[in-house]
Amino acid sequence: MRPFVSTNLAISADGKISTVDRHPSGWTSSADHERLQAFRRGADALLVGRGTWEADRMTMTVRDQDRQPLRCVVSHGGNFDPSHPMFATPGGKIHLLVTGNVDAAIPSGAHLHHGSVASFLETLARDHGVQRLHCEGGGSLIRALAELDAIDEFHLTWAGHSLFGGKSAPTPTGIPGAFLPASLAFELTGFEPAAGECFLSYRRKRA
Ligand SMILES: NC(=O)c1ccc[n+]([C@@H]2O[C@H](COP(=O)([O-])OP(=O)(O)OC[C@H]3O[C@@H](n4cnc5c(N)ncnc54)[C@H](OP(=O)(O)O)[C@@H]3O)[C@@H](O)[C@H]2O)c1
Repeated sequence: MRPFVSTNLAISADGKISTVDRHPSGWTSSADHERLQAFRRGADALLVGRGTWEADRMTMTVRDQDRQPLRCVVSHGGNFDPSHPMFATPGGKIHLLVTGNVDAAIPSGAHLHHGSVASFLETLARDHGVQRLHCEGGGSLIRALAELDAIDEFHLTWAGHSLFGGKSAPTPTGIPGAFLPASLAFELTGFEPAAGECFLSYRRKRA
């Protein structure tokens, strides 16, 4: 038992998700930012890797809405910056997952989990009523979800107006390396050119 999992990323024309200064939040259109908010609105929980959380200084909140999704951050090393703005911003309950065998000091009020990404998804569904979980990256975490075949919906903003380059720049499945254990097939469910970009949605095809 796990939640329905959706992901959302913006990619450059050369398939990268990160700029040279690792600060990608300002490079897409305001329509793309609205789309991000719409995905958050439909989620019971938001999930990001610590790299993205750190780079974007994101508070993981939904604008103009009382109901706030849980805010979940995944780390192997457990080094969560206590001065990160998320901890000082009202919003959904904070759940931090540490997959490594380390002690992590976290601010009061946040819940700490130890275990795998797979078991964390189950815990969120079983103990916290999470039916829809939305992952905002980054590539390493989405690769882990892909390895588990745990992505049900894959949303992309194709931002063909930008080229980033970068041999070690992350892609939607992380820094280029080994193939996935198996290719995953998705069917196109949404195609919306807008504001010089193209919003795409895919649904996992399961036998
Ligand atoms: N264009 C977009 O839409 C978009 C979206 C998201 C992110 N980004 C950008 O992408 C860059 C980050 O990419 P990334 O691939 O490095 O991101 P990431 O997955 O957010 O961060 C990697 C870190 O997250 C933790 N992590 C990820 N997967 C894990 C797993 N399966 N188990 C345990 N810990 C895990 C680890 O943290 P620890 O180091 O703490 O162990 C790892 O070092 C940033 O520049 C960000 O701004 C762009």
